[in-house]
Amino acid sequence: MTSPPPPTMPLRVTRNDPIADGIHILEFRHPSGRQLPEFSAGAHIAVRVPNGLLRKYSLCNDPSERDRYQIAVKREDNGRGGSCSLIDDTKAGEELMVTAPVNDFGLPPRAQDFLFIAGGIGVTPMMAMIRQVMSEGKRFRLFYCSRSPEATAFREELSVPQFKDAVTIHYDQGDASRSLDLRPILAERRNREHLYCCGPRPLMEAVRAMTDHWSPTAVHFEAFSEAETHKADDKPFKVKLARSGAVLDVPITKTILEALRDHGLEVPSSCETGTCGTCRTRLLAGEADHRDLVLAEHERKDTIMICVSRARGEEISIDR
Ligand code: FES
Repeated sequence: MTSPPPPTMPLRVTRNDPIADGIHILEFRHPSGRQLPEFSAGAHIAVRVPNGLLRKYSLCNDPSERDRYQIAVKREDNGRGGSCSLIDDTKAGEELMVTAPVNDFGLPPRAQDFLFIAGGIGVTPMMAMIRQVMSEGKRFRLFYCSRSPEATAFREELSVPQFKDAVTIHYDQGDASRSLDLRPILAERRNREHLYCCGPRPLMEAVRAMTDHWSPTAVHFEAFSEAETHKADDKPFKVKLARSGAVLDVPITKTILEALRDHGLEVPSSCETGTCGTCRTRLLAGEADHRDLVLAEHERKDTIMICVSRARGEEISIDR
């Protein structure tokens, strides 16, 4: 079942400042100074931005703070306008509708060691995680991939001597051939580390592909952009529901999950970006075009995450 939407509240924007090329930090407080609902590292809020879109953003401030939420927003000139509207059309003092925090990317309380891999603005949840991990006396390593120093949010904060051994910022100048070599980093799981990765889809897919030998419960991804799971050459296909024999059309504008729901089926889901594993379904026939970050290679023949993955051919059959 999709969880019920979190409660929404009007919050005052108390800060909207650039912190790197194309990146702003925004801060929200309660209009009457009251405490805000608490959150843990990895949580996000959804903000109704001035142009009407609802957008999710990870919180980056210290989870022990109860008087403010901070998010970092990257201007996506090729997006649907949500980030530009939030950055350009919001002034300090104005109020926006904001949901209470939700956490689908939380840190297991018993884990002691963490490996964070961030690409670009994907560093945002890691900032809250680092603050929480440090306050709990735990350990972390952060590998942060960025285009250039100017485009790197939180660069000064992460460059203090205290973090010299824990933080590596890698600049690739936007050139894929200069990408950080992840293989040695992921070759072995050190000290039962839990791996958290957030960033552009290709980075997350590379990390997913290199961690098949890790315990699946120790590898965590967060994706906000559903658009990244759609492809320009997507085709419609049919999905056969083995239990009832029904055959449903899945047009290019819909996911299998949406087609099932349109058909009146109740199907559990949570992230709907292919990262949480809730919608895992047995694939009985046909070949899937896998677009999730959950399944290990050996699972891909007979399992499909129906919130993002599609069919390679004209029809697949699933155990629903
Ligand atoms: S709902 Fe999370 S992977 Fe499909």
